[in-house]
Amino acid sequence: MVQAFQLQDGFGLDHLRINRLEPVAPGPHQVALQVRAVSLNYRDLLVVKGVYSKKLPLPLTICSDGAGEVVETGPGVTRVKKGDRVAALFMQGWISGEPDEAKARTALGAAMPGMLAERAVLHEEGVVAVPDHLSWEEAATLPCTGVTAWNALVDKGRIKSGDSVLIMGTGGVSLFAMQFARMAGARIIATSSSNDKLERLRAMGAGDTINYLENPDWEETVRKLTGGGVDHVIEVGGAGTLSKSVRAARMGGHIYLIGNLAAAGQIEFNPLPAMMKGICIQGIFVGSREMFEEMAKAIAVQKMRPVIDRVFPFAQAPDALRHLESRGHFGKICIRVSG
Ligand SMILES: NC(=O)c1ccc[n+]([C@@H]2O[C@H](COP(=O)([O-])OP(=O)(O)OC[C@H]3O[C@@H](n4cnc5c(N)ncnc54)[C@H](OP(=O)(O)O)[C@@H]3O)[C@@H](O)[C@H]2O)c1
Repeated sequence: MVQAFQLQDGFGLDHLRINRLEPVAPGPHQVALQVRAVSLNYRDLLVVKGVYSKKLPLPLTICSDGAGEVVETGPGVTRVKKGDRVAALFMQGWISGEPDEAKARTALGAAMPGMLAERAVLHEEGVVAVPDHLSWEEAATLPCTGVTAWNALVDKGRIKSGDSVLIMGTGGVSLFAMQFARMAGARIIATSSSNDKLERLRAMGAGDTINYLENPDWEETVRKLTGGGVDHVIEVGGAGTLSKSVRAARMGGHIYLIGNLAAAGQIEFNPLPAMMKGICIQGIFVGSREMFEEMAKAIAVQKMRPVIDRVFPFAQAPDALRHLESRGHFGKICIRVSG
């Protein structure tokens, strides 16, 4: 039997159960993974609380992002072999090209079962080899958070040396974006609600930092620091920060719409300034396997290490989700699943 953390019969942290399931054998072109580690995303919390959707099929194994070892392969598998270290692709069906509705329906940990289980059976096309120097926890941070930041800054943004990037807060996406910006030789301006975290951001290479609570007009500070605005904005605040991001971006700059952490009630957005500044507002929804593979190659060459806040044991997964909710973290929260 294998253990899986599942939403049993309703939504909310108190509906999470460790269930013991019969191990499923991989079918044609499928692989079975011994999942070693999982990393949490804000979306996992929304799924558990029933905010993401109340129509998800229950019981549901939670969490989209996991890494593990291939322990069994089904008939016809050629892409991977037993013993390979891989991570699951967030959208199992998005291999390359543009996203579409069918690909979006293949995301793990919502409509499809997630990775917080000792064993996962996936299509061989839905796994990606992870860089050798990464721990299991570090590898588990790549599928959603890493690929999202890569898609924004590198795939869509074509970031280059000398560009300036505004990073909001110290969550997983923002810190990955900061590391990719550093790799590209870009200037980083970072915000946080905590002065301690700002100090850590400076130690990681942020040239300028702003406390967005103490300085609610942070967009004006960004304009002053850059003499007119940044080239790229990693927009994780959403409805509550988008107008400020438009102000903080330079004419012709790029804003990547990634999160909605600062959504509060009905907020009006005036599109005129974005239009008059010729700003490109690009929605980002994670990314394809092709992007994941390019990112993994860069991470391997640069020996980049994702920032891990804390690792929880499997049995304490609900505490890990509570820790995510508290926003006390800096980087990724992970769960050690096995081994
Ligand atoms: N579109 C996609 O494909 C995609 C992929 C991944 C994530 N997301 C979304 O992106 C967002 C960030 O995800 P994550 O995993 O990085 O989240 P996370 O790790 O939970 O990050 C939370 C951090 O964001 C900062 N923050 C919170 N409210 C803020 C605000 N009003 N203004 C500025 N910063 C704020 C805080 O940093 P400080 O404590 O430093 O203030 C907080 O600790 C979420 O909305 C998530 O759902 C989207």
